[in-house]
Amino acid sequence: MTNEHPGGTAGTLIIGAGEAGLQLAVSLRQKGYTDPVTLIGAEDQSPYQRPPLSKAFLGGDMDEENLALRTEEFYSKHEIDVLPGTRVTDIVLDEEGHGGLATTSRDGAISFSKLALTTGSRPRKLNLPGKDLDGICYLRGIPDARSLRTRLAKASRVVVIGGGFIGLEAAAAARQRGLAVTVVETFDRLLQRVAAPPISDFYKKAHEKRGIDIILGSGVTSLHGSDKKVSGVELSDGTVIPADLVIVGIGVEPRTELAEKLGLACDRGIIVDSGARTSNPDIVAAGDCTIQPHPRYPAESIRVESVQNAVDQAKIAASSLLGHPSPAPAVPWFWSDQGDLKLQIAGLSNGYDDFLIRGEPDTEHFTVLYYRDGHFIAADAVNSPHDFMAAKRALTLGSTIDRSRATETGLPLKALIGEPSTESLRN
Ligand code: NAI
Repeated sequence: MTNEHPGGTAGTLIIGAGEAGLQLAVSLRQKGYTDPVTLIGAEDQSPYQRPPLSKAFLGGDMDEENLALRTEEFYSKHEIDVLPGTRVTDIVLDEEGHGGLATTSRDGAISFSKLALTTGSRPRKLNLPGKDLDGICYLRGIPDARSLRTRLAKASRVVVIGGGFIGLEAAAAARQRGLAVTVVETFDRLLQRVAAPPISDFYKKAHEKRGIDIILGSGVTSLHGSDKKVSGVELSDGTVIPADLVIVGIGVEPRTELAEKLGLACDRGIIVDSGARTSNPDIVAAGDCTIQPHPRYPAESIRVESVQNAVDQAKIAASSLLGHPSPAPAVPWFWSDQGDLKLQIAGLSNGYDDFLIRGEPDTEHFTVLYYRDGHFIAADAVNSPHDFMAAKRALTLGSTIDRSRATETGLPLKALIGEPSTESLRN
C-alpha cells in the first residue's frame, strides 16, 4: 500500500520518533506548515521521555503512563500522524532528489516530499564471551527499563559496566535499593566523556561514600555464568566480581544506516551544517544521530547527545525545511541525577586550559568553572542550580564570568557576568 495524501501532496516524513522527531513535527506546525506530517518510530509507544528511565522510573518513583511527551489528542489536533511500532526498511529518492518513497515494516510504502532523519542512537554492545547470558541488561528504551526495574527488585549483587551517565544513574538507583553495586570503568576516571577531572574525582568519592565500589582503569574480559544466567564479571587482571545482574552503559552509536543508504555524508554521525541540513540540502537531520558544527566550538564538528540538543536542533531543522532563517544555535546543556546528587552542565568544557572550583566539594554543593584563553566556556554545577543558571546565561550572552571573584561563594555568580558579546546564542 502506498500512503497517498489528498491533493497529491506527500508531505513531510520524519523518521525517528524520539525528542528530535517529535519537536520537528511540532515546530513544522507551529511555523504554519499545513501539508501532512508523518512521524514514524520503531518503538511501540508514542514519543516518550527517556531521561527518567535511568532515574525516577528505575527507582520506582515514576510509572510508564507519565512518560509520554504528548497526548493522543495533541497529535490528532495538530494532524501529526504518529506511526509507532514501525520501521523504515528501505528508502529511495525520486529523480530530482526532492521527495521519495519509504518502505515500512507495517504500512507498506509512504511517499514524501520532504524528509527528516531523527534516527537517534543505539547502545554500544559488549562483544565478549558470555555476552548473551541472562541478566545482562542495557538501558535505552521503555522495554529495557521495565525489565531492569523488575530484575533490580530480585537482584542482590549488581555490576555496572561503564562509568558514564547511564552507568552511574543506574548504579545509584540500585544502591538506593540496598543492593551491592560495583562500577567498572575502562578509563582512569568516571564521566570522562562529559566532565573534567575535578567532577570525576568528586563523583568517585561521593558514590563510594554511599557504598558503591568503583573500579577504574580496568577492562572486562568475559562474563561468567551458570545455568545460562550471569554469575560474575571477569576483569583484565583476572579478578571475578560476583553478580546476578549486570548493567551495561558503555556509550551509544548513532543510527546512520538510512542516511548511508541515501548516500548522505556520514562520519561518526550524519554530517549536518548549522541549518541541520545533510549533504543533500533537501534532507535534514537532528539529534543524537548527527554531527554538527557549533560557533563556540570551531575546532571540530561535535556530536551532542542530549535532549536539549535534540529539541533545539529539531527547531533549526524545521526552519530549514520550510526555507525560513535558522534560529541561533543554543548553548549545550546536560543534567544527570545520580541518587541525591544533581549534576547540571552548561557548555562544553573540551579544550579548557584552566578551571576553578567555587564552593567546597565535601559539602556536595559546588561548581567547577572552565576557562579557555581567559574566557569562560563551561560549568559543571553539583547541587547548585543558581550557579548553573548563571553559567548558562553567561554562555548565552557570550559573556565571561569574572574569574578573580568567582570563588567568593557569598556573591551570586550572576553578579559576575561580564558584558555580552555580539554573538549571543539562544537560551
Ligand atoms: P557514556 O558515553 O556517557 O559513558 C560510557 C562510559 O563507558 C564511558 O565512561 C566509557 O569510558 C565507558 N566504557 C566504554 N567501554 C567500556 C568497557 N568495555 N568497560 C568499561 N567501561 C567502558 O554513555 P552511557 O552512559 O552509556 O550513556 C548512553 C547515552 O545516554 C549517552 O548518549 C548519554 O548522553 C545518554 N544519557 C544521558 C543522560 C543525561 O543526560 N543525564 C542520562 C543517561 C544517559
